[in-house]
Amino acid sequence: MVLVSAKTLVDKAYQQHFAIGAFNVGNSEFGKNIVLVAEELRAPVILAVHPYEYDLMGSAIVKYLRELALTASVPVALHLDHGRDINDVLRAVRDQMNSVMIDTSGLPFEENMAATKQVVDLAHRVGVAVEAELGSIGNRHARADQNMGRIYTDPDSAAEFVKTTGIDDLAVAIGTVHGPYPSGDNDIKIDRLTALNDRLKMPLVLHGGSDNPDAKIKEAIAHGIAKVNISTDIKLPYYQGIKDTVLSKPDQYEPWIMTPAADEIQKQVLREKIKLFGSEGTAALYFDESENLKPLHVYPSDIVDEIIYDQQDSE
Ligand code: 13P
Repeated sequence: MVLVSAKTLVDKAYQQHFAIGAFNVGNSEFGKNIVLVAEELRAPVILAVHPYEYDLMGSAIVKYLRELALTASVPVALHLDHGRDINDVLRAVRDQMNSVMIDTSGLPFEENMAATKQVVDLAHRVGVAVEAELGSIGNRHARADQNMGRIYTDPDSAAEFVKTTGIDDLAVAIGTVHGPYPSGDNDIKIDRLTALNDRLKMPLVLHGGSDNPDAKIKEAIAHGIAKVNISTDIKLPYYQGIKDTVLSKPDQYEPWIMTPAADEIQKQVLREKIKLFGSEGTAALYFDESENLKPLHVYPSDIVDEIIYDQQDSE
C-alpha cells in the first residue's frame, strides 16, 4: 500500500543527493516492468504518463497504475508528464494522479507564469504536486543550427517564476534534448545547473534524460537534479526487442510469446538507470518515517467537482 506523493519522493531525494527515476508508461507492460524492477532494487519510482500516452490508453490506465502502486512494496507515485493545458491537468486530477507537470514553457514568460500559477492554485487544493518548465528543453527534430531548440533556464527568471507560482519542482533546460541525440550533441551544462541550484535551493528535474553520458547524469544529480525523466531509453530497446521477436518468430502471435524478451530488455535498462540515479535501496529511507507512508486517499470527489466547475466558470 505504498502509493505516495511525488513531492515526498523528490524532496527527500534532493536532500540526500540521489534522484528518482520518472519513467514514461508507454503501455501497461511498461508500468508492470517499472514496478517489478523498483521492487527488486528497493527503489522508489515515478510512473509518468505523457498526454499522448494518456490519449492512447485512456483514463483506465491510471486506475491500473494506481492499483500497481497500491500493491507495490516500494513507494510509487503517479505523475502527468508535460500537461499541455488546464484540461490535461483536470483529467489527471479527476483520475487521481498525485503529481502533474504543466508545460506552458512555449509561452512568453508572463503567460507561462500565469498559466502555471492557475494550475498550482487548483492542484494544491487537493494536495497534487506541480512541476513546471522554464526555458526550453531541446528536441531532436529542431534545427541543429538553432541549438536544437534549447533555451537555457535563466536563474533570475527562475527565482521569480518559482516565487510567483509556488510550484513544487522545476524542470530546467540545461542542455538536454528529448529523444536520441544526433551524435555529439549531448551537452549538459553543469555550470548553469549549479547557478540554478544555488539560487533556487529546491528539487530540479532533468527532462531528456536518455542518451546522455552516465558521468554527466551523476554530476547533475550531485548538483540538484532530484528527478530524471526517461522515455526513449526504455522505449527504443523495448520495441527493438519486439521487432526482433516478430522477425525471428514469424508464425507466432500470442502476446505471452511476443513480449517477454522485450520486457527483459526493458527491465535491464531500468535496473541500470535506477542504479545510476543512486535510488537503489532508498525505499527504506521512506519507510523510516511513517509520516511519509500514509497512503494517499482518493481525493474527495466533491472537491474535484468543485475545482472543475470553478474552472469552467472562469472560462
Ligand atoms: P527522453 O525521451 O530523452 O528520455 O526524455 C523523456 C522526458 O523528458 C519525458 O518528459
